[in-house]
Amino acid sequence: MTRRIFWKKPINHLLEISESEKGLVKVIGTPSLLLMGLGAMIGAGIFILTGVASAYYAGPALIFSFILAGIACLFTALCYAEFASMVPVAGSAYTYSYVTLGELFAWIIGWDLVLEYTLIVTALAVGWSGYMVSIISTLGINLPPQLLNPPGVSDGLINLPAVIIIGIISLLLIRGTKLSTQVNSIIVIIKIFVVFLFIAIGVNYINPGNYHPFLPFGYIGIFKGAAIIFFAYIGFDAITTAAEEVKNPQRTFPIAIIGSLAIASVLYIIVTAVLNGMVPYYLLGGAAPVAFALNSVGVHWADIVISVGALTGLTSVILVGFFGQSRVFYAMARDGLIPSFFAKLHKIFKTPINGIIIVGVFAACFAAFLPITAIAELVNIGTLAAFIIVSASVLILRRTRPDLERPFRTPLLPWVPILGILSSLGLIIELPTVTQLRFLVWLVLGLFIYYFYGRKNSLLTGKHGTGEELVSSIEK
Ligand code: ALA
Repeated sequence: MTRRIFWKKPINHLLEISESEKGLVKVIGTPSLLLMGLGAMIGAGIFILTGVASAYYAGPALIFSFILAGIACLFTALCYAEFASMVPVAGSAYTYSYVTLGELFAWIIGWDLVLEYTLIVTALAVGWSGYMVSIISTLGINLPPQLLNPPGVSDGLINLPAVIIIGIISLLLIRGTKLSTQVNSIIVIIKIFVVFLFIAIGVNYINPGNYHPFLPFGYIGIFKGAAIIFFAYIGFDAITTAAEEVKNPQRTFPIAIIGSLAIASVLYIIVTAVLNGMVPYYLLGGAAPVAFALNSVGVHWADIVISVGALTGLTSVILVGFFGQSRVFYAMARDGLIPSFFAKLHKIFKTPINGIIIVGVFAACFAAFLPITAIAELVNIGTLAAFIIVSASVLILRRTRPDLERPFRTPLLPWVPILGILSSLGLIIELPTVTQLRFLVWLVLGLFIYYFYGRKNSLLTGKHGTGEELVSSIEK
């Protein structure tokens, strides 16, 4: 039994599945894929966490934090690109580790992705609430603070708007909404427009005095800031799930992944510089820092325009995150690792309704009572753990299956994956101890569930598993 938990899903089997589903038309070219990457990335990270991270972690030196985190992402991005072009099937990191490291690691990644996506939805909903409240109050309507914040923040009891947006998105997903590429492209363009508008206006209100002190929290603040705003880059990995529909993946993936990371980094750095130039860093810790900065310099019209744009952008990230989450759950349930209850489809809409409702309830509970920073830190640690496993998988698979066709090859092996692993580890170390402990608790809980449920019911290795023949036939 012990050996079984390291059984791997045969990669040829997966490739056959993806071959047989090749009905999907390869329509996504470089510009669309690039926009998809930006669509998944630009969200609460830049519109909210930049403020929190400047105020409490790095001060104006957050600019360097963005550079550091961007470089760390680049290493892993190149590893993702190799997998995406080689195993173009759904499930992303979960599937990659099933074929390289075996079921136990796949479980750990899957369990980890469940945390990551659920909490992305949560964090974005909290961010959404911040901008919504800012718009409403600019219009002169003031809602009771008890209903707008979690306990411990500005007299709050519950963050009601965050709960409401999660409810609405859950309903949309049950109805079967998937953001179409066209709608996504329009929303991304709105987001980028909003970012440019902020820069164009804000640059006129920079007071160089606000850049002093540049390093109020010392050099260590740069690293701590990087560990938190790493959140802003999460999402480029999501475009790998579109691998089956991408034209000429060998060229398209590296350009789109590196391009979207580069564009996002430049935008993030400029926004951070402008934001910190407009307002002293210690005032930026609120729920809607971009709107706050515009308000403090008296440009109220832009405050509204930018808040509405930010709100649209945040909504699309919630939708994409929630969609990804429901599909990971679905893939795990289909493999027998969690109860088939989660893979049950709605009779009419054909969507995994049970998973969506349960995740929605959890996300809403977290969003109601937790501040955004704590949530984002947990998302980061979960994602960084996934990055480590994906980078390691690239190294391992190159050794164990050198024969596989790799339309895109991660360059400079073994250095790029090794640097990916080290930089992700470095960022994990910079996260607060309480976040590391919370993550550990989540992993241990997951291992219990795997031990008592997944291991026994897995379709590959469990009691009714069909994997033995498959695996041994491949290993021969
Ligand atoms: N990168 C995404 C955001 O910042 C998760 O909202």
